[in-house]
Amino acid sequence: MIKQETIDRILDAARIEEVVGDFVDLKKRGSSLIGLCPFHNEKTPSFNVSVNKGIFKCFGCGQGGDAVHFIMELEKYSYPEALRYLANKYNIEIEETEQTAEQYAEKSHRESLYIVSNWAGNFFRQSLWETDEGQSVGLSYFRERGYRDDIINKFELGYSPESWDALCLKAVEEGHQVDFLEETGLAIKRDDGRVYDRFRARVIFPIHNLTGRILGFGGRTLKSDKKVPKYVNSPESEIYHKSNVLYGLYLAKKAISQENICYLVEGYADVIAMHQVGIENVVSSSGTSLTEGQIRLISRYTKNVTILYDGDEAGIKASLRGTDMLLKEGMNVKVLLFPDGDDPDSYAKKVGTPAFREYLTNNIQDFIFYKTKILLRDAGNDPIKKAEVIHEVLESISLIPDEIKVSVFIRECSTLLDVEERALIVELNKLRRSAQKKTATQGKDASAGNRATSPSPMGDMPPADLFDDDAPAARVPEEKKEGQSVSLALKALHEREVVRLLLHYGEMPATWLEADQQYPIAIVLLVDLQDIVFEDPVCKKIVDIYLDYTEKESLPPVRSFVSHEDRAVADLAVSLLSSPYNLSPNWNDDKRNIYVAQETDNLKSAVLGAVYRLKKQRVEKEMQTIREEMRQVATDDDLNLLLYKYQKLKQMEKDLAAYLGTVVVK
Ligand code: CTP
Ligand code: MN
Repeated sequence: MIKQETIDRILDAARIEEVVGDFVDLKKRGSSLIGLCPFHNEKTPSFNVSVNKGIFKCFGCGQGGDAVHFIMELEKYSYPEALRYLANKYNIEIEETEQTAEQYAEKSHRESLYIVSNWAGNFFRQSLWETDEGQSVGLSYFRERGYRDDIINKFELGYSPESWDALCLKAVEEGHQVDFLEETGLAIKRDDGRVYDRFRARVIFPIHNLTGRILGFGGRTLKSDKKVPKYVNSPESEIYHKSNVLYGLYLAKKAISQENICYLVEGYADVIAMHQVGIENVVSSSGTSLTEGQIRLISRYTKNVTILYDGDEAGIKASLRGTDMLLKEGMNVKVLLFPDGDDPDSYAKKVGTPAFREYLTNNIQDFIFYKTKILLRDAGNDPIKKAEVIHEVLESISLIPDEIKVSVFIRECSTLLDVEERALIVELNKLRRSAQKKTATQGKDASAGNRATSPSPMGDMPPADLFDDDAPAARVPEEKKEGQSVSLALKALHEREVVRLLLHYGEMPATWLEADQQYPIAIVLLVDLQDIVFEDPVCKKIVDIYLDYTEKESLPPVRSFVSHEDRAVADLAVSLLSSPYNLSPNWNDDKRNIYVAQETDNLKSAVLGAVYRLKKQRVEKEMQTIREEMRQVATDDDLNLLLYKYQKLKQMEKDLAAYLGTVVVK
């Protein structure tokens, strides 16, 4: 872990305009800098940098944050990775917190496995380039397949000599421990305790993690003997978890981000072939079906995946299966089939670069439509088979989490299948219900988990269910559900307004108060809202931080929010700080000054308005609770008590409303 003091030093040193300026050409506009957003394609700049606040915000795509977030988003780094980048840029020495002996041992153990893997990578490469056997067997194999030298180097390809112990002997000679060779699978232990090399007389494809460190290897035989396994691969190890690794991702990630699409192929050879024709946004799952972890990896860079498959029967079948997971994870899935019997590798070699690239652009189809067409073609005019087709297509559609996409697919497929939309929807609902039941019996609450409670922009608002007109989940009566969620959403807005005022004006004095009581506005807000419980967890967190500081008689620096380790806190702070009053390019300088002048002139109404709106809402909520209690009381006395409370609250509500109406001009 990086020490907090180091983090603070980095955050102090990192000037947002310098960090962003390394990647974006910034021009001065008013009090902020403006440029073309690096996160989406645009021709007119909507990417703003506020030097004072230390944040950036794009009004085109919504990205925003501090210098650390900028680097995290741009380079797809983790938080510590981004800190290290900045530390390097500003020559800051990183100090790490003390580790426990166990943590240290664990880390150094893993590190040892990385070191020995890296060493082996070099060993294989040297064997390829610098030994007679490597050159005449390995290198000539690659060259015969048409691999260029720059590509062989880029992928760090190698060769393992035809020997039972060449690697083991050399490793031990150079001081590596046999244990580590065995744990990474480079060596295999025999029953008698002696070890031998796993990779023998094979060309070697190293497998890298996201930062380019070697995790394991794939070794291809050069023999056409069917009895020899074509590939030998490193086993799982402490550093190599196959379900979380994609071959080629390390070399592809930048291009995937830039092109906003990821090509998925079957093997090492296909990845390399694509690079040879200049396409770098390509990864391979190494012959196995995709895992959730692998899809998550891709979705860090793009939501768009195109699967490239062989054009033979098996390839087509494979393209129909194995996409479920992608659809479920909300990816936009497209497919591309190569002419009979070709895979990307062989096709690229056959037709050459320009024709290959052209084929790629012209033949990509949406997966759902492709599946529909293929199945329909097979079904012919058989009505029973056609019913099966409908069922299978809807099964795929039912996995897609985005309702808008679902409705588009339903509409299009209704045309393709020549079935009424309404009928498809009914069928889709049936499928969803049986899927829900299945998950419900498999694991409790699983059915409620997926769709029903997925986060919605309106906080606790239930998601709009376009099709699920009679889902089995227990339902709150319509009217009550609506009322509750609308007021919750409103409450969240009011809470945000308070946080916005805290961040913008917290340190300014409340000039409308008596001269000796002009506390900072933050104090006024916090004191007035003592009795309010913030429900939005992020707002609550920010307010709690303010409360902590006020106990020490100070106020938190705004930077501590925009650079907060909790991304939700940082995101909210950035979006509130870059509200139109400050950063929007839509306000030219004059207009903006006027607007800001208006809000600062009228801070009293902004502050009191926010306070009273929240208070009024709390009162309304209490009234609602009392109304519910009144329905259930047993005695007249109880009822009278409730009525009395209710009258009091009603009066408070009226006062607050009147106050809001007169004092607060909004
Ligand atoms: N694979 C494997 N073990 C095998 C066969 C295949 O691990 N016995 C994996 C490899 O990752 C391989 C991928 O599945 O890259 C796809 O297999 P295939 O198309 O046969 O391999 P290619 O990479 O295309 O190799 P080549 O073109 O040299 O035959
Ligand atoms: Mn192949």
